[in-house]
Amino acid sequence: MIDADNVYLSENKVSNRDKLLTLSTNLKVAIVGATGAVGKTLLELFDERNFDYGQIWLIASSRSAGQIIHHRGVNHQVYDLETFDFRGVDLVFSSAGTATSKNWGRRIAAQGPVVIDNTNAFRMEPDVGLIVPQVNSNQVLHKLKSRIIANPNCTTIPMVRALQPVHQEYSLNKLVISTYQAASGGGIAGLEQFTSGSQLVLDNPEAIPEAGRFQAPLPFNLIPRIDALLDSGFTLEEQKIAQESRKIMGLPKLNVTATAVRVPVMNCHSQAIYFECDSRLDYSRLTTILDDTGGIILYRGIGEAEGYPTPRGVSGSDHVHVGRVRIDPDNDRAGWMWVVSDNLRVGAALNAIQIAEDLIQSESSVLCASAY
Ligand SMILES: NC(=O)c1ccc[n+]([C@@H]2O[C@H](COP(=O)([O-])OP(=O)(O)OC[C@H]3O[C@@H](n4cnc5c(N)ncnc54)[C@H](OP(=O)(O)O)[C@@H]3O)[C@@H](O)[C@H]2O)c1
Repeated sequence: MIDADNVYLSENKVSNRDKLLTLSTNLKVAIVGATGAVGKTLLELFDERNFDYGQIWLIASSRSAGQIIHHRGVNHQVYDLETFDFRGVDLVFSSAGTATSKNWGRRIAAQGPVVIDNTNAFRMEPDVGLIVPQVNSNQVLHKLKSRIIANPNCTTIPMVRALQPVHQEYSLNKLVISTYQAASGGGIAGLEQFTSGSQLVLDNPEAIPEAGRFQAPLPFNLIPRIDALLDSGFTLEEQKIAQESRKIMGLPKLNVTATAVRVPVMNCHSQAIYFECDSRLDYSRLTTILDDTGGIILYRGIGEAEGYPTPRGVSGSDHVHVGRVRIDPDNDRAGWMWVVSDNLRVGAALNAIQIAEDLIQSESSVLCASAY
């Protein structure tokens, strides 16, 4: 499979990838949440991308402390976050839930490392950058006094990556998003509850599976609520999509509204995006700019495989898959697209690694690695 970030790196960023790898050879890295769905995907991507480090520590809660995880020929013990000393660590990838990050993120950063945080804990904090390298990598060093960089929500990342080229050409002014989010967004427990619950219902159609990580049983169901329900009537997930896209794209007045739905799909989040622009859309130009954007695969045909991506077809891919691009027949400044991407990769671990690569490549002293 072509690696989306190789496209990104070779087209936009790195003129000498070997140099980047040499710089990172002495990097001391920790993963908080290493036993989780995002943590495991990070380790897979480290291998696939030859992300180099000198030393690595794998960290989780006391539940998993002492477990052994095999990576790159080495048996790594899992350490307990409560007792781990982060002094001397250069870079921490953190994906252990919002509450854990709120509790630990700033304390870890105060010990020296830069923390790339995958949770909702810091995304809208004014002193923390919210980075999608393909969109706002120029800001990766801007707010590093906090020593925390936030990774956006798993639907926001592919959304802004697909919309950034549209905005550059046509100036976005309004977005209406409907998401179709997979069980793996609920982590390892969510996936497990979905698969075992599905089997339960197949064996006995009268059985009622547990809701578990979700707000209702997910097998053979749709749940129009992800995360907390707010006083506004929107959910926290919907609010994240709106607030984060404005912050990343630097468009505080962008009109964004969303409905986020959990769907009975194993992996990969999909979204239907309606966008309105300041200027008239031209279909040929619109599809050309999407096609020319690194890391995006555009489906131009009308049949399945050519016409639109599906979650099953996209799982394991590092690209943002875009299909069903249409211009609204009643408004030629508005259009639709269907976007599917692997939430564990594009929506989480890949983006975090790309941020790290930007930091390493920046050759500034933000990472206190002995490599510098
Ligand atoms: N899944 C996605 O698609 C996705 C995408 C983007 C962002 N995220 C965010 O990333 C975070 C992790 O998601 P996930 O899907 O990887 O969840 P997960 O599969 O449930 O994994 C959670 C990880 O956090 C650890 N953990 C939980 N509580 C902890 C504590 N008090 N102290 C230390 N470690 C603790 C767990 O360790 P134990 O093994 O010890 O329990 C596990 O390693 C969440 O905040 C989620 O919102 C997830």
